[in-house]
Amino acid sequence: PVLVVDFGAQYAQLIARRVREANVYSEIVPHSMPVAEMLARNPAAVVLSGGPASVYSDDAPGVDPALFEAGVPVFGICYGFQAMATALGGTVAETGRREFGGTALTVTDPGAVLADLPAEQPVWMSHNDAVTEAPDGFTVTARSAGAPVAAFEDTARGLAGVQFHPEVGHTPHGQDVLRRFLFDVAKLTPNWTTGSVIDDQVAAIRATVGDSAVLCALSGGVDSAVAAALVQRAVGDQLTCVFVDHGLLRAGEAEQVERDYVAATGIKLVVVDAADRFLTALAGVTDPEQKRKIIGREFIRVFESAAREVATAEGVEYLVQGTLYPDVVESGGGTGTANIKSHHNVGGLPDDLAFTLVEPLRTLFKDEVRAIGRELGLPEEIVGRHPFPGPGLGIRIIGAVDAERLAILRAADKVAREELTAAGLDATIWQFPVVLLADVRSVGVQGDGRTYGHPVVLRPVVSEDAMTADWARLPYEVLERISTRITNEVPEVNRVVLDVTSKPPGTIEWE
Ligand code: XMP
Repeated sequence: PVLVVDFGAQYAQLIARRVREANVYSEIVPHSMPVAEMLARNPAAVVLSGGPASVYSDDAPGVDPALFEAGVPVFGICYGFQAMATALGGTVAETGRREFGGTALTVTDPGAVLADLPAEQPVWMSHNDAVTEAPDGFTVTARSAGAPVAAFEDTARGLAGVQFHPEVGHTPHGQDVLRRFLFDVAKLTPNWTTGSVIDDQVAAIRATVGDSAVLCALSGGVDSAVAAALVQRAVGDQLTCVFVDHGLLRAGEAEQVERDYVAATGIKLVVVDAADRFLTALAGVTDPEQKRKIIGREFIRVFESAAREVATAEGVEYLVQGTLYPDVVESGGGTGTANIKSHHNVGGLPDDLAFTLVEPLRTLFKDEVRAIGRELGLPEEIVGRHPFPGPGLGIRIIGAVDAERLAILRAADKVAREELTAAGLDATIWQFPVVLLADVRSVGVQGDGRTYGHPVVLRPVVSEDAMTADWARLPYEVLERISTRITNEVPEVNRVVLDVTSKPPGTIEWE
């Protein structure tokens, strides 16, 4: 792999993704990992990420110079560039010219990394200190107003670095810069493709699971759908999926799982229709936290009993989980191992139902999961689906949940989704909750008559990771079509309002 050494800023995951977009496999490791341990992983190259520290503060994480002796190509970015310069005997100083944001870069000597790129180009910078002298043996290839040495390289040793951030979209030629390092300096082969990932995972799953039976809970979301499809590709009918229909899904979603997904994969599926049970448990409950607890509890109970039946019938030993790489990195376990066996109680299953986990998406980012899903032939409605909360429409009805209110919200939500898709905006918008203010009524007029209906809230947001979000500036024409259609087609709704709150201070969901 290419190891991306994380110096603690938010950029390491982005760098790892960009490397993979160049069809080279990458993994993230913490900067605290000893060089010997990094080398033990046989890295094809190492990328040192940006980070918040100043190289000459006392607790600044440095780079062990041994890294540069190992014959492994190394690319330093921003802080990693400065740490590299320092470790190799160059000079980093405060120039008094802080650069933040879009900055003009002047290529003074293209070398390998900046070859065939414009001599003047905009790049994204974020630094106070700057490299003022390159280490011995390095050629300085670019400068900016605040960075006398904005890029350097010693291609004979496979070493290079840049002060700017090639991984961000604000550096238009950033991906070219990364590719030139990977292919022209480090001489790597682009062999990480969707097809190769599928082949590797299928082999790994077979090796892990052997002849044993495997269980998977399908939620209707992308991750569990792709994880299950991979396992099914590997072990066929040894896999049984359980889909608990809690009755809180949106229009058409249960059918997508029960019909389209099964048709595409041939997966063995047990559907538990538990809608009545969830509605009964939720009757009269208005408190959001209580709703979430009830839905979570009922889900575990229903899944447990279905799992028990399947497990007894088939002798299940393994449970598929759709854990993604960002979760693995964020929980500190960025080892990238394909199948980590850990006997923990998934989502609160009891001890006597503890299975060994199979996590085929553990090394993957969300966009890669989608690409694999497409390659496996899953329906676009599932692969391209926006994130949807486990408690479903239960937390998008403000007030108590009942069948009638669910039907109203489903109808309104369906219109919003259809119009978003028709406008070609599915990929631009992170998520588009529609929320029913079920306990609020407002007066309206329709035809000749007064109406006294409910408002729905449109909550389209853009986001990178759902940790923060901005309200989406949907075109007025799209909003107008949604509003007109909802008030025409859903008789109980006579008002459509738009949520223009970012997160923070709002959350994406209303409950
Ligand atoms: P909030 O509302 O906290 O949501 O901004 C952040 C993201 O998480 C989703 N979400 C959930 N997902 N179970 C889930 O699986 C939940 O209980 C849950 N609550 C919120 C939300 O849709 C958004 O993508």
